Amino acid sequence: MPHSTAYVETDRPDRYIARLVSQLGGDVEARLGGDGRAVIDLPSGRCVLRPAAGGFEMIATAADEEALSGVRDAVTRHLPKAAEREEPVVEWSPPIAGDAAWDLSPVVDDYLLTHCSPAADEVLRDLAVRTREETGGAAGMQISHDEGALLTMLARMSGARLAVEVGVFTGYSSICIARGLPPGGRLLACDVSTEWTSIARNYWERAGVADRIDLRIGPALETLRALPAEPMIGFAFIDADKQSYPDYYEEIVTRLSPGGLVVVDNVFQRGQVFDPAFQGDAQVAVRRLNDTIARDERVESVMLPVRDGVTIARRVG
Ligand SMILES: C[S@@+](CC[C@H](N)C(=O)[O-])C[C@H]1O[C@@H](n2cnc3c(N)ncnc32)[C@H](O)[C@@H]1O
Repeated sequence: MPHSTAYVETDRPDRYIARLVSQLGGDVEARLGGDGRAVIDLPSGRCVLRPAAGGFEMIATAADEEALSGVRDAVTRHLPKAAEREEPVVEWSPPIAGDAAWDLSPVVDDYLLTHCSPAADEVLRDLAVRTREETGGAAGMQISHDEGALLTMLARMSGARLAVEVGVFTGYSSICIARGLPPGGRLLACDVSTEWTSIARNYWERAGVADRIDLRIGPALETLRALPAEPMIGFAFIDADKQSYPDYYEEIVTRLSPGGLVVVDNVFQRGQVFDPAFQGDAQVAVRRLNDTIARDERVESVMLPVRDGVTIARRVG
C-alpha cells in the first residue's frame, strides 16, 4: 500500500487544518485530534494532516497507486477553500511503499555507531566476526553496537535484579544486558537453538558474565509461563519469533515489577508495519503488539527509531 507526502506552508497550520476539516462533507469522514492532527477518510484511502513548523504535513495512503492519486487529488482540491490568503502550493512526493519508508542511510548508520559509548570491546567485536563467519545470512539477526549500548544503559538504569531475554542467538544482547545488572543480578536467557547458543556460551565466559546468565533452551513461551506469576522481572528484552511477540509481552508485563522495563526490538518490521499491504504473521503480530502497548495503561511507553524500531515500556503500577 503506497503512501505519498506533501508539505503546505502556512503561518497558522492548526487553524488551517481545523477549517479544512469543518469544510469537508459528503462521503468524506474527517476527525480532528486534540493535538491538531486531522484524519480524513475517503472511499479511496486516507490522508493525515499534521501541524509542523511553518506549515503542515500531509500523508496520503491508499490500496494502490491509482487510489492514492484519487486521495491526493481530493485533498488538494479542498485546500484552497480553507486557505486564509494565497492559494497553497502542493507538491506530493512520488508513491513510496511501506518497506521503503524506513531506510537508514549508511552515513547516518556509521555516524551513530561511532558516537555512542563505550566503544565495542574486543569480546563483542570478536563475537560479531564469529557470528558472521558461522551463521552467514542469519548474522543480520544480531543487534548492532549502538542498540547493545542502549540495552546496557537501560538495564543499569532499571536496577533489575532479574532480567529476561527472549531470543539469544549467539549471545551479543545477553552480554550487553548482563553488563548492566548489579552484583548478584541474573539474566534468564531464552532460546530454542543449541547450535547458536553454544557460540554464545564461549563469549559469555570471555566477557566475564557467564556466571550471571541462566540459559533456558526451549520455546520461550513455555519458559515464561513456568515463572511464578509475581512482579519479579526488572528488565526484559524481546527479540525472537515475531508472531509470538504479543504473547511474550503479556507474559512479561504481568510479571514486571513497578518501574521495570520491557524493551521490544524490530517494532518497525523494516517499515512493513506502516503499510497494511503487508499481512504476514510477523507484521500482523507486531502491529497488534504496537497498538496494544500504546493503549496499555499498565505501562508508559515510547517507540524509538533505533535501527528497526525499539519500544521501551515501563511498568507504572
Ligand atoms: C533475532 S535473533 C536474537 C538476536 C539476539 N538478541 C542478538 O542480539 O544476537 C532471534 C532468536 O530467537 C530464537 N527463537 C526463535 N523462536 C523462538 C522461540 N519460540 N523460543 C525461544 N527462542 C526462539 C532464535 O533461535 C534466534 O536465536
